[in-house]
Amino acid sequence: MSKNILITGGAGFIGSHVVRLFVQKYPDYQIYNLDALTYAGNLANLTDIEQASNYTFVKGDITDATFLEQLFAQTAFDGVIHLAAESHVDRSITDPMAFVLTNVVGTVNLLNAAKNSWKGAFEGKRFYHVSTDEVYGSLHNPEDFFTEETPYDPQSPYSASKAASDHFVRAYGNTYGLPIVLSNCSNNYGPNHFPEKLIPLMIHNIQNNKPLPVYGKGENVRDWLYVIDHARAIDTIFHDGKNGETYNIGGFNEWKNIDLVHLLCQIMDRKLGRPEGTSVQLITYVTDRAGHDLRYAIDAHKIMRELGWEPSLQFAEGLEKTVDWFLANQEWMDNVTSGHYQQYYQDMYANR
Ligand code: NAD
Ligand code: TYD
Repeated sequence: MSKNILITGGAGFIGSHVVRLFVQKYPDYQIYNLDALTYAGNLANLTDIEQASNYTFVKGDITDATFLEQLFAQTAFDGVIHLAAESHVDRSITDPMAFVLTNVVGTVNLLNAAKNSWKGAFEGKRFYHVSTDEVYGSLHNPEDFFTEETPYDPQSPYSASKAASDHFVRAYGNTYGLPIVLSNCSNNYGPNHFPEKLIPLMIHNIQNNKPLPVYGKGENVRDWLYVIDHARAIDTIFHDGKNGETYNIGGFNEWKNIDLVHLLCQIMDRKLGRPEGTSVQLITYVTDRAGHDLRYAIDAHKIMRELGWEPSLQFAEGLEKTVDWFLANQEWMDNVTSGHYQQYYQDMYANR
């Protein structure tokens, strides 16, 4: 069945994989990718599908309510998959307001545009908000996992802004009957990952013999999922999820940061033909992140049980593919590590 689908943030890391999956899997859909092309948005992530007849790129900012009202007046969207966001915790510590504007105000603008254009005729419509497990806070008991019932307890400006946007999405479902669905996913990794985040930063620095900045003692734990498995989950939830429901997405794949950095060093030494134990010497313990969440771990049984989704890749295979992608796409890395990005990190690490 033909549909117009608006995907926001499609030039970013996860969004680019979602856009590609939808453009290729659903030739009858028209996919509109709305992205402001901030420092994190990169159309080079989509060169292989940019000529597809069912794909349209729209440059625009979700903080601009007037622009969104016009966009929704021009095109009758059947579905919205909302990923556009400021996404990096460290940046949220230095500039929280950017996170309030895009993640909270931008999401409410998008909800209003959908509500005003759908005018209560909600049959066949869907507003899907893509969110993070970080809204649940930090786990301290090793037995605990985040479930869909875990109370919200965001600890960083990033997670507070995502929690606020989740609450607004649910409030629009409850108050106006908007057909909404949400998911909260664990840490993603894979191709197109912006090298401000742990895994691509470490790969880049190992390759260039630069220090590997491990925050604090490296004891913090994250639960890693291959980005294409997240995109597959988003496809499943968008089509088969129940209105008003929330689905947690994760890979049951917890790693202490320091162990993960050691593993990346091993893989990179092998791929670069360096003697084993070379890159590990680059590890540099730096000042801990303020308010650093200790552990995230997702219980993903609901989506597995109710919608039949499960991760397709083991971590070892996913990491190999990821490292291979970064080594084969040096130009991509050179482009994103110039300009604003570089300046930001020079400033950030100046005092470390
Ligand atoms: P990203 O930073 O790589 O990409 C964000 C995209 O949004 C960029 O293309 C950027 O240009 C665009 N954008 C930012 N502000 C905008 C604005 N005002 N208007 C329009 N476009 C704007 O982020 P990501 O890692 O791909 O994350 C995508 C979504 O998934 C986010 O909502 C994030 O909270 C969520 N999420 C991310 C992870 C993760 O591990 N990266 C895990 C769970 C959930
Ligand atoms: P990150 O990739 O920023 O994701 P998030 O903070 O959203 O989980 O960081 C993952 C973990 O790695 C987190 O515990 C912080 C840590 N970290 C470092 O130790 N060094 C770094 O240079 C970065 C970017 C992160």
